[in-house]
Amino acid sequence: MSQKQMKKILVTGAVGQIGSELTMELRKRYGNDNVLATGRKTKPSETLLNSGPFEFIDITNRETIEKVVDDYDIDTIYNMAAILSAVGEERPKVCWNVNINGMYNILEIVHEREMARVFVPSSIAAFGPETPRENTPQETVLKPKTMYGVTKVAGELLGDYYFKRFNLDIRGVRYPGIISSETLPGGGTTDYAVEIFYEAIKHKRYTCFVKEDTVLPMMYMPDCIKGTIDLMEADIKKLKHHSDFNLASMSFSAGELAAEIKKHIPEFKCSYKPDFRQAIADSWPKSIDDSAARKEWGWKPTYDLPTATKDMLEKLGKRYEEGNL
Ligand code: SER
Repeated sequence: MSQKQMKKILVTGAVGQIGSELTMELRKRYGNDNVLATGRKTKPSETLLNSGPFEFIDITNRETIEKVVDDYDIDTIYNMAAILSAVGEERPKVCWNVNINGMYNILEIVHEREMARVFVPSSIAAFGPETPRENTPQETVLKPKTMYGVTKVAGELLGDYYFKRFNLDIRGVRYPGIISSETLPGGGTTDYAVEIFYEAIKHKRYTCFVKEDTVLPMMYMPDCIKGTIDLMEADIKKLKHHSDFNLASMSFSAGELAAEIKKHIPEFKCSYKPDFRQAIADSWPKSIDDSAARKEWGWKPTYDLPTATKDMLEKLGKRYEEGNL
């Protein structure tokens, strides 16, 4: 299969945690006017609005996607719009509709217009309690117990089906929890790993919704963005996997994260009050084997817990001093 050029990019979910930073990096690389940011409802930031085109669409409504794809002559889509695990348990129907029917609309549009490429994210939520939890292999049991996980597994299978059946150039990774300083995550189980930083800076205390010894795989946003774009720019001839690359960076417990923050903010106190998200966290891996991504497209993360923590606290601390947090 030959690789088409990516010239005009559409990002769905561009107001979200990953989408907002991904859009800015894509605009830097491909030119501001060549990257269309889209959201459904949430008001985009000034940064997003002032740096390039923005439109409101709803991926569950096919016509709204088709209109912007045709108006902007789009040849590549990063489908970052999704309902995450915690909200997905509260609203399973909406989760299925957005993550599956929305994705299906995207794949059909990419297929019909013979577009160059599409990125569809999966997650560590594709795994479940029957999956080996340490160094989780690339090929393993996929029996998630959340609706979010069910949509991620179905999405991976659908993606690989479109690749084999229609030659559609689809790529995707199983993201771990993503730590970020620009946009808050929206309703996931790993959100504590972001909230803790904001609360440590603002109030010097945080009540964590998972237990102190809960270990999950995590990644700092700069690595997430780099990995996402690197995979999309990789040579397709080298890829044996498509929609489901394991991707790892660091793994730590909630208590280890709190201890790392305490090194910078000694007064910081973290307490633990697990809620329904504990069961979700307990069904996910602790660490991930990402050797396929390393081998097939050269994946290599940069940040670890100490360097990510330092950077997060510097960035958020600056915003706090400016009155912008
Ligand atoms: N961060 C996501 C969640 O917690 C995992 O993909 O739902």
